[in-house]
Amino acid sequence: MLGFTSKEKAKSDEGIPQGADDLTPPQHIAIIMDGNGRWATKRGLPRIAGHKRGLNSVRKVTREAKILGVKYLTLFAFSTENWLRPRDEVHGLMDLFRFYMRRECKTLVSEGVRIRFIGDPSEMPEDIQRLMIEAEELTSDGHEMTLVVALNYGSRAEIVRAAARLSERVAAGEITSADVTEAAISDELTTSGIPDPDLILRTSGEQRLSNFLLWQAAYTEFLFVDKHWPDFDQTSLQQAIIAYNNRDRRFGAIEKTA
Ligand code: FPP
Repeated sequence: MLGFTSKEKAKSDEGIPQGADDLTPPQHIAIIMDGNGRWATKRGLPRIAGHKRGLNSVRKVTREAKILGVKYLTLFAFSTENWLRPRDEVHGLMDLFRFYMRRECKTLVSEGVRIRFIGDPSEMPEDIQRLMIEAEELTSDGHEMTLVVALNYGSRAEIVRAAARLSERVAAGEITSADVTEAAISDELTTSGIPDPDLILRTSGEQRLSNFLLWQAAYTEFLFVDKHWPDFDQTSLQQAIIAYNNRDRRFGAIEKTA
């Protein structure tokens, strides 16, 4: 079940589910793809089987987001904390990333999807770092949608790096402390140039941000979906956008109709 607000629930109780045709896509959707491990464990499978199934959802959701007119889709694929998982699982995930970058780039190119990575690549295995650069280059002409993959991403570390970089520039006399603005910090983040997410969606029923896009989520709408990520499909994405369309985004101002 989706995390509907009472207003959204009232709408669906009235039997007015908007059709997919009525959807106004958010410009940027970011997803915490949670629940792969539980999906697998429930079926008596190893956790990596859940991640493999999760890759199917990545394909489905990327394609559907592009069709619906979403311009940026960010997927949280590996956090700075995920290195603490068992060795086998980390290796299995790295193999999945290799597989995805080797096999899927052609599809992304043919669909006009550009790929971009956020996070700290320097701790990723070297061959994966090369594949990341190649994938960004190969898909750089894609103008339909940007797929942002968060790999070795941690929001606090990203903010600390930005603060350190700006203080170095102040110390070097390149800028003054008056130049340390919100825009200057945003420019130093790995998401520089990417608009803030309009919607952050997390699957599997957990309701937390887990060090994901903390700075960028200042005015983001949140949606928590009970489904595990491998069960999340095109229809789930459409339902999420319907829920988003029924939200009233005020950015600290008053209601438009008031
Ligand atoms: C969280 O579920 C999921 C991950 C840490 C990995 C997500 C990775 C993929 C779906 C693989 C491919 C992705 C790309 C973009 C190529 P969990 O393992 O924490 O689930 P649990 O909470 O049930 O244990």
